[in-house]
Amino acid sequence: MAVPKEVQERIKRLREEIDYHNYRYYVLDSPVISDEEYDALMQELLELEERYPETITPDSPTQRVGAPPSEKFKPVPHSIPMLSLDDAFTRAEVLEFDIRIKKFLGLPDDFVIEYTVEPKMDGLAVELVYEDGVLKSGSTRGDGITGEDVTANIRTIKSVPLRLISRNLPPPSLLEARGEVYMEKEAFRRLNQEREKRGQPPFANPRNAAAGSLRQLDPSVTAQRPLDIYFYGIGLVKGHLFKTQWEILSTLKKWGLRTNPMARKLQGIRAAINYHEKMAEKRPELPYEIDGIVIKVNSLELQHKLGSKTRSPRWAIAYKFEAAQAITRIRDIILSVGRTGAVTPVAIMEPVRVGGVTVSRATLHNQDEIRRKDIRIGDWVIIRRAGDVIPEVVKPLKERRTGAEKVFQMPDRCPVCGHRLEKGEDEAVWRCPNPDCFPRLVKRIAHFVSKPAMDIEGLGPKVVEQLVTAGIIRDIPDIYHIQKSDLLSLEGFGERSAQNLIDAIEASKKVSLSRFLFALGIRHVGEVTAQLIADHFGNLDAIMDASEEDFLTIKGIGPEVAKSIASWFQDTKNRKLVQKLRDSGIVIQEQFATKDERGHGPVKGRSFVFTGTLSSMARSRAKELVKEMGGRVMSTVGKNTDYVVAGKNPGSKYLKAQEMGITILTEDQFLNMIGESSQGETQEKKSV
Ligand code: IVH
Repeated sequence: MAVPKEVQERIKRLREEIDYHNYRYYVLDSPVISDEEYDALMQELLELEERYPETITPDSPTQRVGAPPSEKFKPVPHSIPMLSLDDAFTRAEVLEFDIRIKKFLGLPDDFVIEYTVEPKMDGLAVELVYEDGVLKSGSTRGDGITGEDVTANIRTIKSVPLRLISRNLPPPSLLEARGEVYMEKEAFRRLNQEREKRGQPPFANPRNAAAGSLRQLDPSVTAQRPLDIYFYGIGLVKGHLFKTQWEILSTLKKWGLRTNPMARKLQGIRAAINYHEKMAEKRPELPYEIDGIVIKVNSLELQHKLGSKTRSPRWAIAYKFEAAQAITRIRDIILSVGRTGAVTPVAIMEPVRVGGVTVSRATLHNQDEIRRKDIRIGDWVIIRRAGDVIPEVVKPLKERRTGAEKVFQMPDRCPVCGHRLEKGEDEAVWRCPNPDCFPRLVKRIAHFVSKPAMDIEGLGPKVVEQLVTAGIIRDIPDIYHIQKSDLLSLEGFGERSAQNLIDAIEASKKVSLSRFLFALGIRHVGEVTAQLIADHFGNLDAIMDASEEDFLTIKGIGPEVAKSIASWFQDTKNRKLVQKLRDSGIVIQEQFATKDERGHGPVKGRSFVFTGTLSSMARSRAKELVKEMGGRVMSTVGKNTDYVVAGKNPGSKYLKAQEMGITILTEDQFLNMIGESSQGETQEKKSV
């Protein structure tokens, strides 16, 4: 599969971004984004690389299990790599995880797996080595293979036992215990207060405070910091055999190692999903920060069978909470016109996951707001999704500017109708005063997509209005450029409904000529007229080239209608619209297959009935011609009749044909069909 250019570019940019944040975090110890934002970037890159594996390079940040160990501490190899976890953000992803496991193990779909669920602590992973119950060393995770020796600092954490408890159960000869070092929220707040008093820069969040504290060269500084630890797993163990994760947790606790009392053992994935919901509710009240839950297959035997990928085990997943903020780049600023005529600038951004959905646009409210926040096209920005579906730009990251960013200038004309914009004296909002502008546009588009026209299910007038208001569509052809991420940013759209609409739009691209004609919304061209024209000309090019007179030759089309159609197609604006629609992939089906079979083609195999007097030839001659061309001539109209050719003063056959909805050809149409001309000149239409 070829990798689309935008994808390649996005991957490149994500890698640069992540490398930059790694540097800020690990080398400078001064991150500029939250861990959630970092995770969102990493997640996006992982997803793209999974979809396009050919883009993976050895230096991609995804190919590294963690961070490189700092030069400051002695490197410590981990006897068993400290892996990371795959992230899930939605129920669907978690359900898939459960299914994947059963598939891998060859278990039936309805098998109920026992899981342990634990809060995912937002701190930093460490490994403590106990030999015969005595703490020998402690290290950070580092890159997962080699960590940093932080033994002296670990020893200052009060809840870390320097010797394991052996009252109930003798400790094993070797125990590598793994857990998360963290700082409570309150302790973090106090620490920052003190730092600010002393003129030191505050830590961005408890996790950074914990990491910074643990990675102090002077252990006496660490000792001052209120660090804590929860243990959640093991590395190499000698002298004790565990059967389940649950047993690991309870045994670690018996040995005096702190484990999170909120951990649970559950049956089946749905129970784990419920636990996630409960923890999300409890999250604000917890004294420490968590960024999700970790779901682990309880049985170690099954864990063993499932094994691991390079970076993460197959038997566990981090079911994360949604980040409410993210970082992305503004590609462009466009204008949306609302129902009241308010013209609002909207930032078009590189799609980014925030608060559970992928978003690609954010409202900028008005020009004053843009000026106040100094938001420019090309800026990297922090966006936030609060209660609303449409996210908001919090601020630009000015330190990332390259100088290529452009200042946005509000135009003085409406982007939809071109009318001059107006603004009240004390108002911040510019408005289009043209009352026809918004409603007319919405009506035009709603008609185009309606059931008898392009028949795009799920795109009713309300949705059209939402799309126009959000600036996602500004004219009919824009419908065919709607992205799923655009829809997800609208109220009332979920993953499923967005995909359904995208599919419906795609399906509508193949359309009959008559529906397409009707959809264009040409004055006086209703469904019946559209059908007549389509039947007559057969294809769109012929219609576009036809003159008013040509339309007049069609029975049922009067002078007013003919004029309206002809002038519509003569207007270059309209011709461009048609071209744009074709460029978007709309394929208009020809009404009858005559183009390549001119002459004999259309007649062959068809049955004809004649009524009335022909002026150009005797009826007998016409019958002969039909027969010569492989057609049949019948004397009565029936359900097998394909065409009734009506000359002057037609009889009851004409009425019957009308009743039965059989195509009635005028003499000229008939002559066209058989390749004869009525006036001695070639009357061939392009279509026939
Ligand atoms: S288990 C192979 N359990 O999440 C399984 N990890 O992305 C490895 N974490 O590096 C981890 N709470 O720092 C596990 N209850 C928990 C955890 C937890 C926090 C962190 C840990 C790890 C990262 C994985």
